[in-house]
Amino acid sequence: MIEPREATPSGNVLAFLAGALAGAFAVRVLPPVIAQLAGAMRDPFDDLTADHRHFVRLLRSMEESGPDEPVRRTALLLRLKRGLAAHAMAEEDVVYPLLHDEAEVEEEAKQLYDDHGDIKIHMYALERMRKDDPAWRGRVRRLRMIIEDHARQEETVEFPRLRRVLRDGGMTRMAADVQREKSLIL
Ligand SMILES: [Fe+2]
Ligand SMILES: [Fe+2]
Repeated sequence: MIEPREATPSGNVLAFLAGALAGAFAVRVLPPVIAQLAGAMRDPFDDLTADHRHFVRLLRSMEESGPDEPVRRTALLLRLKRGLAAHAMAEEDVVYPLLHDEAEVEEEAKQLYDDHGDIKIHMYALERMRKDDPAWRGRVRRLRMIIEDHARQEETVEFPRLRRVLRDGGMTRMAADVQREKSLIL
């Protein structure tokens, strides 16, 4: 009778490593790839504009929240932080480089990066601030105004400018790349 061969310890280790690698591949690599494929079918500028509306809604809720609602303020701030991180990554790693290289507006692209820096500094201050601080509402309001100005510039000037210079293939590729970047954070 032939005895079934037992897996050697090194075979077990290899099987484990293969499984771990496959798992890591599925978790780390597949979502961005799937997002990239799905994203190619959406209008990236509409998608980014919808994000802007979402941020303003969250900021208004933060402004309206009271000092007796620290948990709500913290939850809203975290939602905003997560959304801004994904949005900023897509713009900073895809949209602004295209503005710089394809639309050839160097100064304008750098100004947009600079605006994101201001937004991050305000977010840091809000994270550090006690959630019942009387200055909360004013700081949120200032952040909302910065984000509204920045979004207006993108929606009315920079996105249309980029839309004009990108050919069909360029738009499809940008749409896919925007979704891939966002999926790395979400
Ligand atoms: Fe932006
Ligand atoms: Fe934006």
